[in-house]
Amino acid sequence: MKIKSRMKINLVQEIDRNKSLSVIIPCTGKQDLDKALKALAGDNAIHATSGCDVEEPYSVLIDGDRFDIVGIKNPSYSTAQKAIQTFVVKNAKRLGTSANIYLNHIQDQAVVEGAANGAVLGTYNYALYKTNIDSTGIGEMNFISDEKSKALIDRAADTAETQKSIFDLVNAPSNYKSPQTLADWAVSSGKANDYNVTVIEEVELEKQGFHGLLAVNRGSEYPARFIISDYNPEGATKTIALVGKGVTFDTGGLSIKPSNNMHLMKSDMGGAAAVLGAVELVAKRKLPIRVIGFVPTTDNSVDAKAIKPGDVIGSYSGKTIEVLNTDAEGRLILADALAYAVDKYQPDIMVDLATLTGSVVRTLGSNCAGLFTHDDALAASLIDAGDGVGERLWRLPLWDEYADDMRSEIADIKNLSDKPVAGAITAAKFLETFTDGHDHWAHIDIAGTAFKNNGVSRTHSATAFGVRLLHDFALAQSQN
Ligand code: BES
Ligand code: ZN
Ligand code: ZN
Repeated sequence: MKIKSRMKINLVQEIDRNKSLSVIIPCTGKQDLDKALKALAGDNAIHATSGCDVEEPYSVLIDGDRFDIVGIKNPSYSTAQKAIQTFVVKNAKRLGTSANIYLNHIQDQAVVEGAANGAVLGTYNYALYKTNIDSTGIGEMNFISDEKSKALIDRAADTAETQKSIFDLVNAPSNYKSPQTLADWAVSSGKANDYNVTVIEEVELEKQGFHGLLAVNRGSEYPARFIISDYNPEGATKTIALVGKGVTFDTGGLSIKPSNNMHLMKSDMGGAAAVLGAVELVAKRKLPIRVIGFVPTTDNSVDAKAIKPGDVIGSYSGKTIEVLNTDAEGRLILADALAYAVDKYQPDIMVDLATLTGSVVRTLGSNCAGLFTHDDALAASLIDAGDGVGERLWRLPLWDEYADDMRSEIADIKNLSDKPVAGAITAAKFLETFTDGHDHWAHIDIAGTAFKNNGVSRTHSATAFGVRLLHDFALAQSQN
């Protein structure tokens, strides 16, 4: 995958008035807008607008300068982010190579940060594999704001750069990404952002007993990898383990998926991507807390050697698993990763993210992810972090009754429930078996939110769901 150069971000207090201006103005209220226009265009600007309460963004021309006014209804981080991102995507051609965004007039810090994040995200190029792309996109962004917003804009831009890199990973088709691609991404991010990355390869995986990961990998052309991204700043007193499902393509294996929509399964490493991105961002922002990412990665393919329905396999924990459906593969590789993280690192908190079940998509759609945990305080902290950035979580139960359906007659557990109901919950119960009773473990099923039709591109595309949530969660945890 091509390494892209970072976009140039300038924080300025005033704009160069030598040439005529073109400025994007997020609009949260008529008074704020008047203030912004007065500062930019003087007194004659004040009555030149229709305010903010309009459906579509509009432009006003004053003395040769152009102001693009983007109304933000119910101003918050996420509404600002979406509005500005969409505007930049739709107007990229006209905006040229350098865009100006005015933020000086906005009081609400969350809106400032959301708008800045959206502006940078809006420059993302979805046409990664086109041969005739116009390379003269927006290469530079000037944020006009006062001193107090500098830190926020900086964080928003750091975040957006990591999100864009995660978009590339998740949007990549399966013939452009293998387990080694994820490992390479982690290694180069570790070098750039000063954290430690270890990649466990096949011989060592065998030796250490990653039987779940190796079982899923049997049908694959590419060897499996287990990636450990360890950001361990001096003086950290708390450790968060993040575990992410890294299935680079899920055909279902011999329990093969129908071909309708199978192409979407290139995004079945969305959990891994969120974890890799979160560790990068936490390291970039130098948070005072240890965060370790664990990524088991393979594809789930069909071959003479592939595991077959009914096979019994081992796992890192020592527990045996009856594999009744080879399409329930995410839980097999996560079983090893969770058990390994607890065994080797004893983290204070452990959170896994996975595009785990179709069931969670049928339950919650694509507006929020499913959250499972026994720990109320952890649930509250994760939900809170997600709400702040529009990555919402909805808690589902994890009662023991659901575990009954996962009992195997011949092995310690099976990977498929007896009943075709509550699939997201029984999957979570399966994972719980491999956490060694960790009191502060949470599972987040992002099958509906990692890759979706989000109005910014024409088809399904990556959302990097989890990157900001996990960063903000780690930030909150580092403060208490
Ligand atoms: N990767 C899929 C889950 C998925 C579905 C992700 C839709 C994104 C969108 C997972 O590996 C899977 O196939 N799960 C099965 C489990 C079943 C066989 C118990 C499912 O949910 O159908
Ligand atoms: Zn599957
Ligand atoms: Zn899968």
